[in-house]
Parts: sequence; C-alpha cells; structure tokens
Amino acid sequence: MEKRPFIIDCDTGTDDAIAILAALGSDAIRVRALTSVNGNVNENFTSRNNRDLVGYLGADVEVARGAKIPFYPRAGYYDATHGSEGLGDVTLPAAENVPFTKETAPELIRRIAEEEEGRLELLVVGPMTNIAIALSMYPELKEKIRHIWFMGGAALGGNMTPTAEFNIWVDPVAAKLVIASGIPMTMVGLDVTLKAALNREDEQEIRSFGNKGAVLAADILDYMIRRYADGGEDALMHDALAAAAAVCPQCLVCHDYFVDVECQGEYTAGHTMVDRRGRTGKKPNVSVAMELDAMALPQPKVLNFTSVMTWVLGSTLIYIRMMSPHLALPTSPMPSAFSILPTFRGFWKWSMTLSLYNAIVGSSLSNQMGPPARLQFVPHRGHLPQIR
Ligand code: BDR
Ligand code: CA
Repeated sequence: MEKRPFIIDCDTGTDDAIAILAALGSDAIRVRALTSVNGNVNENFTSRNNRDLVGYLGADVEVARGAKIPFYPRAGYYDATHGSEGLGDVTLPAAENVPFTKETAPELIRRIAEEEEGRLELLVVGPMTNIAIALSMYPELKEKIRHIWFMGGAALGGNMTPTAEFNIWVDPVAAKLVIASGIPMTMVGLDVTLKAALNREDEQEIRSFGNKGAVLAADILDYMIRRYADGGEDALMHDALAAAAAVCPQCLVCHDYFVDVECQGEYTAGHTMVDRRGRTGKKPNVSVAMELDAMALPQPKVLNFTSVMTWVLGSTLIYIRMMSPHLALPTSPMPSAFSILPTFRGFWKWSMTLSLYNAIVGSSLSNQMGPPARLQFVPHRGHLPQIR
C-alpha cells in the first residue's frame, strides 16, 4: 500500500520528538518534511532539534524553519517543561550536514502540497502559526490539503489556563484561522491526550530494544518521568497520540462539532469552543476526538503492525481500565497462538511493545522478540498537573 504523504509541523519538544520518531517508523505514512515553529521553546531550538533528529536518524526528510512569534501578543511562556532547549536533558549531535531548506515553512508546505496533488496531510502538534501564514499567503492551498490532524485544544478544560490548551493558547488567532479554513480536520485535544501517560516500566522496556531510535525515545521518556517526580507534568504522549490518530483513526471516537477559538476574554483567550450541543446552529467543521475505542484497536493477528500508535493507544486503554475497573472492555477472543499471554492486560502490553519496537526499528516482527518476562503493568499515578 502506498504510504500517505505527511508534513509534521511541530515545536519540538519532548513529546513532539517521540511523535516524530513514531511517525518516521510507521508503515502507513511517509514524512516528507518537518516544519518548526515557536512554542515549547523558541524557534531556533525547535528548528535545531528537528534538524538534529533527522541527522541522527539518517532520515530522508526535509527540514524547514518557521514562525518565531505568534500572531497573538503572547510572551513569557517558555519554561522548564521541555528543558531549556526542548529535548529535556538530551543533547543530540549537531547535524551540520543537514541543511535547512531555502524555503520557509509556509513556502515548503505549499510546494509539497502542489507536488502531492491533493494527497498531502498535515500533522500539526504545536501552535498553528505556520499553517495560518501558509493559508494567508496561498489561499488556494486549502483545496490541496487532504486532512489536518492536530494536537490542541480541549472540549473540556485546559492545561495552560482553566479553559485553554497550550498550543491553541500560544496563538489563538492562528488556530482560529486554520480551524475556519474548511480543510477537513481532526482535533486530538486534552480530552484524550491526558489519558496517554507512560511510566518507568515503559521506558525500560523501550530502552531494552537497543536501537538508536528506541534509546533516544527512552532517554526523552526518562527525562519526562524524572520531571514528573519533581512535580512537573506526567510523561504524557500528547503529540504521539495525534500521530496515532492519523494512522489509526478508527481507534478514536470522534464527533463532528462546530469548533471556534476564543481570541478575547480576560480568562478565556485560547479556549476552543466546541459546540457539543449544537447551540450555535453552525455546521460542524472539526472531527473532535472524545474517547478511545478499544474494539477498534488492531487485533493480535496484526503483530507486524508497524506503528507506535497501537502502543500509545494500548497504554491509554490500560490506564482507563485500571482507573475504571467496572468498565467492560473485551477480554477475548484471542488466537490460540497468544494464549500464552495470561491476561488481556498482558496482551495489550505485549502487543503495544512490539508495535513500538516495530515502529522504531522499522522492521517487522523479529525472531528475537518473544513475550517479555514481565507482563505486569504499573499504571501511572493519576496526577495530571498543569503543564505550566
Ligand atoms: C501540547 O503542548 C506542548 O507542551 C506539547 O508538546 C503538546 O503539543 C500539550 O498541551
Ligand atoms: Ca508540541
């Protein structure tokens, strides 16, 4: 099957980096470019992180620099959540041999959209400034983008303010413009991403795979887990879950709602107004992820399903299950080949681990992989502090 062409627009960022690793390992999508934007840290760092990631992994992916400041007059939001330069305390070798494109991020998006003739999809996991500039410079672009998958916003609650999520909060004007563009889009907001946390056991398991991408993901996770221990945000896979949505959309329960962004308001600027009850009478314009669908997850027969996406979704489902023991999640059927796995929980754990392994090494199931000795899942601790 032909891979779907993607550009990832990101403010790399610990969880952005894990999303990039996941997307690069996916069999379903082809990442044509990374475009960087100001957000978690300033654009000099997000661009450098993208370039160094591509150089380190030897990936054939273009890297373009993007917007340095949002449209909205925001300031003072860089902090230690992602470390001072974006990748926690991980330092990648400087990939001097990987050039930034001569085109800026909006120009590159336009060029690739034209080359792909309507097939291009965007995974947007930072503030939407680059996309808004691109749509403003090239209004015809909206006809050429097949779908936007974005991490941002929330139907219920925020992490930056009581009602605003960080990516949208940084540049509500850009988000408003993009969301109103008419491009088909899926919002993967805090309603689902707050459920996707990884823990120390996951980190160790990923590290044990031993390849470059896995060790890098584990190093970043290690930082995130220590950050949590110090009172910061949990190791939440916000951006990787948006990548998961792009690869496995049936795993998310989405509803079509009218969404708009609040750009004013003493307390509410950056709030995504999700009209769940149709009170505005306006036509739905966004498919909003509200829940995860356990039954839609790939079944064990697809053990060579090469994506970290199952892994992230699996973690989330396990978390939901542990936190809601009354929830009737499916426990069967399991093909006999997998009957060695003692529990449903263990099955998911194993399956998602293999998926991550496959995603990162980019290979199908290897003979060396057997069920891990330890199938016990330790749920994350349920403490979801605001990110800033
Ligand atoms: C979003 O903000 C950033 O800190 C993360 O990378 C993610 O994109 C979550 O609110
Ligand atoms: Ca991000």
